[in-house]
Amino acid sequence: MEIVIVPDGAAIGELGAGIIAELLARKPAALLGVATGSSPLPVYAALARRVAAGEVSVDRLRVCQLDEYVGLPADHPQSYRAVIAAEVLTPLGLTGDSFLGVDGTAADLPAACAAYEAALAAAGGVDLQLLGIGTDGHIGFNEPCSSFGSRTRVKTLTARTRADNARFFDHPDEVPQHVVTQGIATISEARHLVLVATGEGKAEAIAATVEGPLAAAVPASALQLHPHATVIVDEAAASALKLADYFRSTYAAKPAWQSL
Ligand code: GLP
Repeated sequence: MEIVIVPDGAAIGELGAGIIAELLARKPAALLGVATGSSPLPVYAALARRVAAGEVSVDRLRVCQLDEYVGLPADHPQSYRAVIAAEVLTPLGLTGDSFLGVDGTAADLPAACAAYEAALAAAGGVDLQLLGIGTDGHIGFNEPCSSFGSRTRVKTLTARTRADNARFFDHPDEVPQHVVTQGIATISEARHLVLVATGEGKAEAIAATVEGPLAAAVPASALQLHPHATVIVDEAAASALKLADYFRSTYAAKPAWQSL
């Protein structure tokens, strides 16, 4: 796992967009897994700027989702499908044709989850999965004690996650209780995991993820098992890391030939 500590969200955005740009230069038809939430927004904005400037081509890029609320129709503004359309596809000039998603309104949710797993595999697997992190250490919607062997399935949100996400809804009761999420094992199959986090509220979760024991109670700690995981955090999110100085000096001394 490589930990990169940068001053702020804008720097996270530039670094994250740079990683995606490098991937696209190597593989124009890459499959990019995107996360919702506030943390990855600077990455999407920086990528959109590079596309608008003609520095990066996303013509063949495909985008897939990490998770989805159960029961929110696709046209509900807080369905993750709609959020991704607004925050990723439209700014990049892509249409729904480039999008791979899971249907959170399906009558048979286990079948929809299995179909999504099959679609990801048929698409050649995820090349780069962007991740945020919940204050309780969740990735996607894999709440604490999700199995490291889990696949795409229905989960129940914790009260803490529902409270964290209430800011996106008119009323806290509107946050769905149930979700569909790629499992930890599904996420871990992506060729590169890039987790981004900002703010002091994420400091404990980041320290547990990076320096704590491998534990289902901290789902993001599964990144410790991944051969290519990059964690990009601002100073506030890095504030509980005991090895912060080591991570800073490692990144400062990174050989020019070695990319993230
Ligand atoms: C939701 C999403 C996660 C995201 C988390 C953190 O729970 N399902 O994928 O990482 O929010 O969001 P934020 O970045 O807004 O703190």
